[in-house]
Amino acid sequence: MTALSAASAAYIVAGLLFVLSLAGLSRHETARTGNGFGIAGMAIALAATIGLAARDLDAGATALIAVAMVAGAAIGLWRARRVQMTGMPELIAILHSFVGLAAVLVGWNGYLSVERAGAAQTEVPENLLGIHSAEVVIGVFIGAVTFTGSIVAFLKLSARIKSNPLMLPGHNWLNLGALVAFAALTVAFVVSPSLGVLAAVTVLALALGWHLVASIGGGDMPVVVSMLNSYSGWAAAASGFLLDNDLLIITGALVGSSGAYLSYIMCRAMNRSFLSVIAGGFGNEGSTAAATEDGEHTEITAEDAADLLRTARSVIITPGYGMAVAHAQGPVAELTRKLTDKGVRVRFGIHPVAGRLPGHMNVLLAEAKVPYDIVLEMDEVNDDFPDTSVVLVIGANDTVNPAALDDPGSPIAGMPVLHVWEAEDVIVFKRSMNTGYAGVQNPLFFRDNTRMLFGDARERVDDILRSL
Ligand code: TAP
Repeated sequence: MTALSAASAAYIVAGLLFVLSLAGLSRHETARTGNGFGIAGMAIALAATIGLAARDLDAGATALIAVAMVAGAAIGLWRARRVQMTGMPELIAILHSFVGLAAVLVGWNGYLSVERAGAAQTEVPENLLGIHSAEVVIGVFIGAVTFTGSIVAFLKLSARIKSNPLMLPGHNWLNLGALVAFAALTVAFVVSPSLGVLAAVTVLALALGWHLVASIGGGDMPVVVSMLNSYSGWAAAASGFLLDNDLLIITGALVGSSGAYLSYIMCRAMNRSFLSVIAGGFGNEGSTAAATEDGEHTEITAEDAADLLRTARSVIITPGYGMAVAHAQGPVAELTRKLTDKGVRVRFGIHPVAGRLPGHMNVLLAEAKVPYDIVLEMDEVNDDFPDTSVVLVIGANDTVNPAALDDPGSPIAGMPVLHVWEAEDVIVFKRSMNTGYAGVQNPLFFRDNTRMLFGDARERVDDILRSL
């Protein structure tokens, strides 16, 4: 078997492992195995690529690659061990920027080694030069947009810059103008490749990536991170065409399409159109302004809440962003154990966009060792509320708002929600009557069977645990 066919076989195995990895990552029970498949696939891909490249490299170049890999692996391990769960989105954002930068460098290298060097010097046939030039310019464009977009996302998520959307006058027209200019420059580059045009495309794309993400509010960043994930995949696929590497094309397409699909799922669960998120405009950080009163709300003490729970047959806990803010998952898991020991049936109802990340609540509950089989998705639990004695809404707001169903004029009208109000009693844990991420009032708080338990969710759950 030649080295080339051995590498091709390894690429097919790695590609299959990446597909298995994605399949595994789609469920929390199999996520660890999925990760294992991904690691194995990447190890095989790296070994095959380096083995193939090493045939044409001298010892010095091979040593350089080895040093870069060891340094990269050490930095990667160090960061992955130190990152907090809440810092994950910003880490992912900065990693996407590396993919973008790599695609820009691969594109520039393609230009310098083919178009600039003259086709006669290379293996690219004269009649395919136009296609090569198009690959260069498209790869550089997607890579540069991903690069600066991801840097802005990283800066916003890590609160190094303000997360408010930058609203330049006519910002949608600026984006559209940049796309039209890109199309014109691509034609110019394919007809007559030149350093000046490629530099113009690079600068234009860097500015577009920056502007695109700067105009999106901090709250919409999770959708943007998943969109940038998709872009980084397409940037890698573009590099794959340039480097004539099939595995990079396959992997890039897998990342590109899964990122796009995840963005779509998130937007659908939020009842938002993908384009409206990308175009920015709304998605400011959750409004902290006190909502206008909509009626009378009734409060409850932790002791009375404990009494209700003691006599309950079944309890459903619907956590939200506030549980993450309060780091209440540990006490919530403890409460679950205590109630289960007393013979109460306890389950969790997870809304697909509860929190600020896909799977945010699942990860927190898994971290607190809540058994997977009692953590149910919204659709699995929504019909069970009428038979439930008590619902504990822990730091959730928009995801349990009946106005999404009842009020066609509400900004969240049409968003699927957890029907918590159908239970006998509902206890809402939050610090005030402030609104959630969408900035809209929640009529749940004024229903007859709802009691408000004000204060930090972690402290209030601890109080209940003490009373129990
Ligand atoms: P939200 O609607 O954001 O409400 C969270 C509530 O938690 C707030 O009303 C807040 O009220 C309360 N809270 C904050 N800190 C607290 C603490 N320490 N103790 C107790 N309560 C606390 O949450 P949700 O129901 O999870 O909904 C998520 C929202 O985010 C949706 O609108 C969704 O569309 C949006 N979103 C989600 C995602 C993903 S992928 N998950 C991505 C982008 C946007 P107080 O201030 O009164 O305490």
